[in-house]
Amino acid sequence: MGRRPECEQCEPEDRKNEGYLCEKVKAADGLKVRCIHEGSVLKLNVLRYYLKIFCGAMKNQLGGQHCFIDLFSGPGLCHNKDAEFINNQDEKSEIFLPGSALIALDQTPAFAKYVFVDINKDTSDILYKRCKKQFHHLIDRIEFVNEDANAVTIGRFQDNFGITVVFIDPNGLDIQFDTIYRLSKQRSMDLIINFSILDLKRNEDNYRQGNDKADLFFGTNKWRNTQKREWLKLYRSQLKLLGFRAIENEDECVITVPGKSNAPIYHLIYASKNKRGLDFWRKTKKKFLQPDIMDRIQ
Ligand SMILES: C[S@@+](CC[C@H](N)C(=O)[O-])C[C@H]1O[C@@H](n2cnc3c(N)ncnc32)[C@H](O)[C@@H]1O
Repeated sequence: MGRRPECEQCEPEDRKNEGYLCEKVKAADGLKVRCIHEGSVLKLNVLRYYLKIFCGAMKNQLGGQHCFIDLFSGPGLCHNKDAEFINNQDEKSEIFLPGSALIALDQTPAFAKYVFVDINKDTSDILYKRCKKQFHHLIDRIEFVNEDANAVTIGRFQDNFGITVVFIDPNGLDIQFDTIYRLSKQRSMDLIINFSILDLKRNEDNYRQGNDKADLFFGTNKWRNTQKREWLKLYRSQLKLLGFRAIENEDECVITVPGKSNAPIYHLIYASKNKRGLDFWRKTKKKFLQPDIMDRIQ
């Protein structure tokens, strides 16, 4: 028994053309969803667990007025293409599950402000509809930004918020380091970044020959002369230059997510300007403890 029949033809290329929305599957609310594989479920569970700790522990800190920014928000609901397959093997996995934006909205106490950025107009509109339906009481706190995450005007987010939690979940190496620099300037911030090792490995030749995507991602071209297994270290040292300090120990700051063949597909990198942030992440990492798979990056 394989995947859900209505999604058989929903291949990555189709989803790219449709702003990463699935044309085959609709959720109970009648709106489009984003198809994901099991690896993304772990990522969303990590985010949920971290935010739960953060929101609980920080509710009375710095006025409790914290902000959540999702730079690659998606449509709010995901369809797990692997769920049926996994469920058949007596493991439980949900078919539809909230995406990062809805996970953040579901936390108590709520954030004082939410910023959801997505470059795709359909995706942004669908997210708006879902939020209005499910989180009507918070809608005035949400800013929907239908722009390229690397072009958002940072001035609009200048504020007096306590801590800003930023979730960065692109499909590949689409977050430019300069964007993180501009966002984090003079701001108390926790970051969770999806570093797509798969994109870098698959397109390495292209990124060495004229396409500057990886240079912009790292904020330097030093990666070109760095061993593959040191790429993560290089990225972390770049973050350190911006004043993020909770990233000394790789084992503590990174959760590596394996694909079907068990090789790493992306790293979830945590960085914070706040001392307590690291404790929250340590608890999260402990919850999702995994064997070290860094050795498989060759
Ligand atoms: C991996 S999905 C994000 C998934 C989301 N975190 C969730 O939980 O459903 C990436 C999203 O980023 C959007 N996107 C792609 N390039 C972008 C860019 N340069 N700026 C903003 N959004 C972008 C896509 O439309 C897509 O919805």
